[in-house]
Amino acid sequence: MKVFLVVLALFLPLMSAQVPHWGPCPEPATQPAFNLQKFMGRWFEIAKLPAQFERGRCIETNFTLKLDGTAHVVSSEILKGELKTIDGTAVVEDKRNPAKLGISFSYVLPYTPYWILSTDYENSALVYSCTDVLRLFHVDFAWILGRTRSLPAATIEHGKEVFTSNNIDVSRMILSRQQGCDQKL
Ligand SMILES: *[C@@H]1O[C@H](CO)[C@@H](O)[C@H](O)[C@H]1NC(C)=O
Repeated sequence: MKVFLVVLALFLPLMSAQVPHWGPCPEPATQPAFNLQKFMGRWFEIAKLPAQFERGRCIETNFTLKLDGTAHVVSSEILKGELKTIDGTAVVEDKRNPAKLGISFSYVLPYTPYWILSTDYENSALVYSCTDVLRLFHVDFAWILGRTRSLPAATIEHGKEVFTSNNIDVSRMILSRQQGCDQKL
């Protein structure tokens, strides 16, 4: 079931009517001197790309540093009244650029890029994931994460500007639903 969910999560956006972007992935700037340890803990999904990916609500991810330097990742959402969680592993893929993480939610699936473009570790983070398809086009995901379930509108606007200035089209970014999440299911 878990693997099925992951496969669905990975390929559903590709199969849906989403229009891929032509050309290879952009090469955005990432957080300088990224500190994985300071990034650990709980992050809430505030906004995301693309809209088709939206399924559950109250989406959050909890990162825990492991002894081997990788991070244990637990993502959860409420879907049709049920709390669903999925476990994964995040690794620094490029030691020269520790902000370029990869996340895998199963032993059999490859690591997908999870790049921290910018974060202050304490309030918000901008995350980008892009996969080239034959260098002809690319499929991407972008998230604005918060340490709290909501962020000031100005922070969200600024985040979108950062994506845009890195040639990432966030015109279809939507706000994630984080209302009514802390009451018992
Ligand atoms: C995050 O994970 C750690 C380690 O498993 C756990 O102690 C902590 O309670 C978790 N936090 C949340 C909000 O789930």
